[in-house]
Amino acid sequence: MSVSIEVAQPLPGAAFGATVRLARSLAAEMPIGLPEALAQAGGLLLIPGMDEISRAPELLVRLSRQFGSEVEDYRHLLTGQHLVHEAQPEIYLVTNTVPGARPPPARPEPPLTADGLLPVQYPHRKGWHTDQSYRRPPPDISLFYAVTPADRTRGQTLFASGILAYEALPAHLKARVEALQGLHAQPGTGRGRKEALAGQTPRPFAPHERSQSQPVVRAHPVTGQRALYLCEYGQMDWFDGPFVGMQPGPHGDGAALLDELMSHYTQPRFVYAHEWSAGDLLVWDNRCLVHAATWYDAEKEQRLMWRTTVRGNPGAIYAGERRSWIPEAVAV
Ligand SMILES: [Fe+2]
Repeated sequence: MSVSIEVAQPLPGAAFGATVRLARSLAAEMPIGLPEALAQAGGLLLIPGMDEISRAPELLVRLSRQFGSEVEDYRHLLTGQHLVHEAQPEIYLVTNTVPGARPPPARPEPPLTADGLLPVQYPHRKGWHTDQSYRRPPPDISLFYAVTPADRTRGQTLFASGILAYEALPAHLKARVEALQGLHAQPGTGRGRKEALAGQTPRPFAPHERSQSQPVVRAHPVTGQRALYLCEYGQMDWFDGPFVGMQPGPHGDGAALLDELMSHYTQPRFVYAHEWSAGDLLVWDNRCLVHAATWYDAEKEQRLMWRTTVRGNPGAIYAGERRSWIPEAVAV
């Protein structure tokens, strides 16, 4: 490993991930070895003390480029432009400080487990997803930086390891998911489980909004490790899915299997819960883990986080595909 970083594995209280300390500031030198550290740590790195990014946001974009050939430009992604950083269009704002921004997720019910802990396991905890899984090819890596986090006891980000969860699957479930495809839906297209349970009729899709199938088991293109690749309520298609070729809908065989898999996936033994401090940077690999946001008090707290998304190495099964989310008229 390069001397420009120090890596301590795993993350505190978790069975995966690593904490990384940089030998020098980003402005002085871009560190060497972070992508390798990310792969060795099962897809999650915490890099604390990166406050210089708040003063020089271009450093976050430069650092993101270490992880892949393409850092998404949010001007071109049909994203509300009020949520794009004004000077760095590769930075997406996750915040309640901008009018029209998304509020934090609701608190689980009940808000704590019977042991008084933060609920993590599905379905008590909902909102587990991997970024942009409704696109083919899906993105590789996300970077998430805390400019102004909520109080440490709120607004945590939860991660569950798809590698550990896959390894621990009972043999009969491994066999069931081996060749299975999940059908992932873009939030806002009316295909979620809530809408299906309410008996709503989803609006027609524009072609570039269509739900996309993805393998439930993905082989990581760098490490070869197999990992579960799934979402749940808001980011699967509950009208035609959640699984291709299984009984569809919120009460079908597919729903029962998804509930079983997601409950397994998000067991506390596979989860890391990050409590944020200003200047923390998390780097995660969407190809092998899921994450979930948690509640904070948006009436009293102002939270500002910056996210970038890196793509370019989704794996051989996506080779040569056109991008599903780009309307035909502008695709080249
Ligand atoms: Fe996310």
